[in-house]
Amino acid sequence: MTATRQLRLGAFMRPVSIHTAWWRYPGSAPDANFNLGHLVAFARTLERGCFDAFFMADHLAVLNMPMEALKRSATVTSFDPLTLLPALAMVTERLGLIATASTTFEPPYTVARRFASLDHISNGRAGWNLVTTSNPDAALNFGQTEQMAHDERYRRAREYFDVVTGLWDSWADDAFTRNVGTGQFFDPDRLRVLDHRGEFFSVRGPLNIARPVQGWPLIVQAGASEAGRQLAAETAEMVFTGQGTLAEGQRFYADVKGRMERIGRNPDHMKILPGVLVVIGDSVEEAREKRAHLDSLVNEDSAIASLSIALGHDASAFDPDEPLPEVPESNASKSGRERAIALARREGLTVRELARRLGGYSGLAMVGTPATIADEMEHWLEARGSDGFNVMFPYLPGGLDAFVDRVVPELQRRGIYRRAYEGATLRENLGVPRPSNRFFR
Ligand SMILES: Cc1cc2nc3c(=O)[nH]c(=O)nc-3n(C[C@H](O)[C@H](O)[C@H](O)COP(=O)(O)O)c2cc1C
Repeated sequence: MTATRQLRLGAFMRPVSIHTAWWRYPGSAPDANFNLGHLVAFARTLERGCFDAFFMADHLAVLNMPMEALKRSATVTSFDPLTLLPALAMVTERLGLIATASTTFEPPYTVARRFASLDHISNGRAGWNLVTTSNPDAALNFGQTEQMAHDERYRRAREYFDVVTGLWDSWADDAFTRNVGTGQFFDPDRLRVLDHRGEFFSVRGPLNIARPVQGWPLIVQAGASEAGRQLAAETAEMVFTGQGTLAEGQRFYADVKGRMERIGRNPDHMKILPGVLVVIGDSVEEAREKRAHLDSLVNEDSAIASLSIALGHDASAFDPDEPLPEVPESNASKSGRERAIALARREGLTVRELARRLGGYSGLAMVGTPATIADEMEHWLEARGSDGFNVMFPYLPGGLDAFVDRVVPELQRRGIYRRAYEGATLRENLGVPRPSNRFFR
């Protein structure tokens, strides 16, 4: 009898909610995104709910919208992911800890060292969300005058992956002999100097920290363009996506897993997790009212700003009561732009209506009772639309507590979600193998 497919759950923490108005919702902790006490409590609640991972999104620029919108945004202050997650590692035992780091702006040697450190500190629970940074304003914070072109960003990311994983393979797992008698601390035959020279990087190595507990921290990605999908198929073990419908999810799933098979990778060694906003009520009606109230807290300026970011184009110039005009391509997010335009065309929305939809959160949402939400999640899992979800909570702590106290038990009752962690490391709990070392057997 084949084992029932198990749902994988990540928590999309930014580091709190993705919804623009989460901090204004009754019962929310408005300072939660910059209050360690709250974040520790959220991490412990996620572990109580047996979540696979706390995923911390991250952006390297603040001024990416007009001040009228920015002054209403809670995203302007948050901890550096690789400073916060080691702290959360000290108050959890099994929860995976996935941090975002950019291949366009951070040096690979530093990124390799920081994720190896997190993996050792957390006893094997680290994951790296490898992003190329689609936000054009970040370049101005790193001494550049304009954003690197989309395809160049992805070529650079591919080489970057080889450098970082090569540095993680610098030391064999048994390199450190620490022989007090002979005074030899490590075996030189179990060390390899990388000496990488490529189009974008020249990195000698070795890395100044032992091989991570998991061999490599888990490799995560979130690109969806042609280049993004190919990079994921070649390198990723978890992919966060923004698909808004089951049909889109199934197409993406088949595409990326098909690419993996064509290059000889086992498709089970990647978990595809669409982002989903989950709003829970005692009835579907009550849940919808909660969502409507949350969306009503989004200011028009914030809504237009969110639309501009999604389109990679200033939407404040458009007539808000007219349909969305033609929007030229940009260097920013390709899949984000395509999704916004598709939504406007599919539902015949005016610029104002589209902005309202994108203002709060425009992606996939499950709004209902614990049973209807579990129905939808089970359906996506069985229909190969995903391997699980990257859950976005509408407000915290209330939206998170309700999910762990009411939806998780329903998923467990159906036998599609764990009641206890299977192993000690993020990879063991996900069923993703520990990578072998390219230099040592
Ligand atoms: C669920 C999800 C989470 C993401 N998290 C981040 C993030 O934390 N930081 C970031 O710079 N980009 C993030 N992105 C953006 C992606 O890394 C990528 O730039 C974007 O999806 C566009 O990719 P594409 O141009 O290949 O379509 C995220 C995207 C998705 C769908």
